Amino acid sequence: MDVIIMPTAAAAAKLTAQIIADAINEKPDFKLGLATGRTMESVYANLAKLNKQKKVDFSLVKTFNLDEYVGLEEDNVNSYRYYMNYHLFDKINIDKRNTHVPNGIAEDVDAAAAAYDEAIAECGGLDIQLLGIGRSGHIGFNEPLSSFSSRTRAVTLTQITYQQNSPLFDNPKDMPMRAVTMGVGTILEARRLVFLATGSEKANIVAKAIEGPVTSMISATAMQFHENVVAILDKDAAAKLANQAEYKWSFQHDPKWAAYQKVK
Ligand code: F6R
Repeated sequence: MDVIIMPTAAAAAKLTAQIIADAINEKPDFKLGLATGRTMESVYANLAKLNKQKKVDFSLVKTFNLDEYVGLEEDNVNSYRYYMNYHLFDKINIDKRNTHVPNGIAEDVDAAAAAYDEAIAECGGLDIQLLGIGRSGHIGFNEPLSSFSSRTRAVTLTQITYQQNSPLFDNPKDMPMRAVTMGVGTILEARRLVFLATGSEKANIVAKAIEGPVTSMISATAMQFHENVVAILDKDAAAKLANQAEYKWSFQHDPKWAAYQKVK
């Protein structure tokens, strides 16, 4: 895993967007796994800006989101489909038919979840999966004790996630207790993981996810099994990492990051 520590959350989001844009430019029919949440909003603002400046083209890109609440219609402002349209898809030159979000309103949610994994496999697998981290240590909505080989499925959200996300609903009690999420196993199959965490409230869980022992109590520790991961942090989210100086040294001296030194 490479760990990149940026001075600010804005710089971390800009770097994340640049890495994704560069990867798309190398492979126009890119398969991109997306995440939602507060952290990703500025990544999407940066990608929309790059698209407007014609520095990245989404016309052949296919996207697959990590998760969706069970029971929310697409036009519900709290659904992740709505979030994606609002923050990204309506602002870039993507064909909406190429964008996929798990189906949380299917009559048979399990069958729809299995079909989602099949759709990812059929298009050749994900080139990059973008990941954030919740206070429970979840990636996607893989709450503690999710199997590392889990597939896309319906799950019950933990109380800590309920506390994290319910303030985003007009009436916090409207937040569904269930969601459909890509499994940890599904996520680990992506060819590259790009993880972004910002803010001091993430510092403890980020340190556990990156430097702590691998445990299904913290789904994000499963990233340690993946051979191609970059974790991008701002200095607040990185604050509890023991080896910050080493990570900064590697970022400065690894030639693969040379082009990214100028991102501020
Ligand atoms: C959402 C997702 C979640 C979020 C996490 C952090 O699609 O995958 O794992 O990344 O809950 O959310 P924020 O950024 O709101 O702190």
